[in-house]
Amino acid sequence: MPARQKAPKKDVGELTKRQARKRADGLRDDIEFHNYRYYVLDDPVISDAEYDELKSELQAIEERFPDLVTPDSPTQRVGGAPKEGFRTVEHESPMLSLDTVNDADAFRRFYENALRGTGKERITLVGEPKFDGLSVEFVYDNGKLSSASTRGDGTTGEDVTANVKTIGEVPLRLGAGREVSIPRHLVVRGEVYMERPAFEEFNRRQEEEGAKTFANPRNAAAGSLRQLDPSITARRPLSVYFWQVGPSSSRVPDSHWTSLEMLEELGFRTNARNERFENEDEAIEWYENMARDRDDLPYEIDGCVFKVNSVDDQNVLGTRAASPRWAIAWKFPAQRKTTKINEIEANVGRTGKLTPVALLEPVQIGGVEVSRVSLHNQDEVDRKDIRVGDTVLVERAGDVIPHVVQVVKDKRTGNEKKYHLPKKCPVCAGPVSRVEGEAASRCTNAACPAQLKEKLTHYGSRAALDIEGLGDKTAEALLERSLVEDVADLYELEPDDLIELPTFAEKSAQNLVEAIRETKETATLARLIYALGIPNVGKTVATDLTMRFGSLEELAGADREAIQQIEGLGPTVASSISEWFENARNRKLVKRLREHGLDPRAEERGTRLAGKTFVVTGSLASMSRDEAKEAIVRQGGEATGSVSGKTDYLVVGRNPGASKTSAAEKHGTTVIDEKEFLELLGRKS
Ligand code: IVH
Repeated sequence: MPARQKAPKKDVGELTKRQARKRADGLRDDIEFHNYRYYVLDDPVISDAEYDELKSELQAIEERFPDLVTPDSPTQRVGGAPKEGFRTVEHESPMLSLDTVNDADAFRRFYENALRGTGKERITLVGEPKFDGLSVEFVYDNGKLSSASTRGDGTTGEDVTANVKTIGEVPLRLGAGREVSIPRHLVVRGEVYMERPAFEEFNRRQEEEGAKTFANPRNAAAGSLRQLDPSITARRPLSVYFWQVGPSSSRVPDSHWTSLEMLEELGFRTNARNERFENEDEAIEWYENMARDRDDLPYEIDGCVFKVNSVDDQNVLGTRAASPRWAIAWKFPAQRKTTKINEIEANVGRTGKLTPVALLEPVQIGGVEVSRVSLHNQDEVDRKDIRVGDTVLVERAGDVIPHVVQVVKDKRTGNEKKYHLPKKCPVCAGPVSRVEGEAASRCTNAACPAQLKEKLTHYGSRAALDIEGLGDKTAEALLERSLVEDVADLYELEPDDLIELPTFAEKSAQNLVEAIRETKETATLARLIYALGIPNVGKTVATDLTMRFGSLEELAGADREAIQQIEGLGPTVASSISEWFENARNRKLVKRLREHGLDPRAEERGTRLAGKTFVVTGSLASMSRDEAKEAIVRQGGEATGSVSGKTDYLVVGRNPGASKTSAAEKHGTTVIDEKEFLELLGRKS
């Protein structure tokens, strides 16, 4: 669609009132048109600066002729004066709720009932994400927003017109600047919500300002919309998706799908993932894809909604007391559940860090049993006021490690106990201290068996030197019999030493010793640096270090400044590394490792991918995602986590993230498969 022609601009001061009225109306149309391009089509045709220019011109006109201000003017999106309370609004037809199902069998029963009820052999369904926000009804008369109300009890809601006007995605006039026929009276329903990144940012800002933070985007959206002072709503990053045309509208298309098309045509933002299905199997497959992709979406959904497409069929099926028989919500397994904290214990990590861990009354969350959750550090315990005996809301979403979202304070009985990390290490009774400015408390005894155990298992972990058979139990047994005291001692182990241990036989003892010795050949410099377990040195930092330092010896001899010169490494990481190498015990360890033959060199840095930016999504057959990133960096490229206009290539493996592939499409990023990626790296596939 071509950009609209702009009318020649006149200086506001020169306009007669008549000209001003006409110009203002034209500008409102223009602005609404560009909103449509931006919010609905996601394809703006003018720059932000040009858009702002239109708005300021309109503002100037309205300032000069205040009586020309109309309620649908985009200048009225700022909020207006606070109110005493919300006026109530009666919905023209009840806002129903939905029956829910939790599995495919129940969903099939819904479909079969719909077939039976209509006497048909098949029925077209429309599937939509079930947005986790709050539903709002919007009424438009002659194409202009006249009122908006919350669902309330389904019959009567609260008037939130001034509040929703502040949301840019809510059209104030319909079809502006385009040839669209406007219904005389239109009732539209949709969901007001907050996008996840906007929510994180908003909560962070609230916290900085010492204001109330919210447990999830839904609560934040609800709290933001139901503000008596709409100018507060105006400052909250709210979004909206529209999902239904109300039956009392003067134009109701004969199918739900056509309604959605009509809404989009009129300028309402509908969801791009909405889809039509000719049978229940297609619908089930789509649901499963949505369940898999849900964590990749920038907004929260708690399931999918399926609606019978034909309005005639909907009418035949009718409604129950509060929910239609022609629609169903198929919920995803809950990602948040409440449970009780039975105990809090302190775990000692490989750097001596004490981590408070809550032992929970076990709960199933998203199909996995959760019985322990890290509380991270004392500050976190204090900030969330987590006590032993508390009922807490625990979340486990996608790849995210389970965590406590908040305490359910209403459930407190008064018997809950505050928790403080111990002053002595729970494993070796050594002193625990907290370094100024750091959140972590640490056991300062370098010979603490808990730390040694974690160091050994970390050294052998898959991302480090990948020593099969060096798990928790083996590490514990080795320490108990004093067979090792640090990772260098591993290279002195003989099969005979291991056979003594409870879980070893001749073959397994031989295998472990071989696996340990193999690392002399297989360890790359990045993996060895990571395996040493230097505080604040993860896989990425370890790889970055190999860009500058060719061997462990070179790194050990580097000063803080040299380390800090590496891009992306801050002063904390740099001091952490140099302090580690300043420690005599660690220096001796590195020397002994070298004597045992562990002295990998940094691979030469290539230039095949110089200046190119990559994103990897899904799993690759020939390497892990971390290895892929390492390979990119080693060839002079850059590996990032999300697709933007700057991304040159999206490497797509199995089960790619939907948001990444659609972002690549949007930005015109070159999409390549694993084979093409290996060719770029100069490797055989
Ligand atoms: S349709 C008669 N579609 O779910 C149809 N609802 O339990 C009524 N919701 O209150 C609802 N996304 O807030 C519909 N795509 C969607 C939805 C959706 C979220 C919410 C809505 C409603 C609740 C129903």
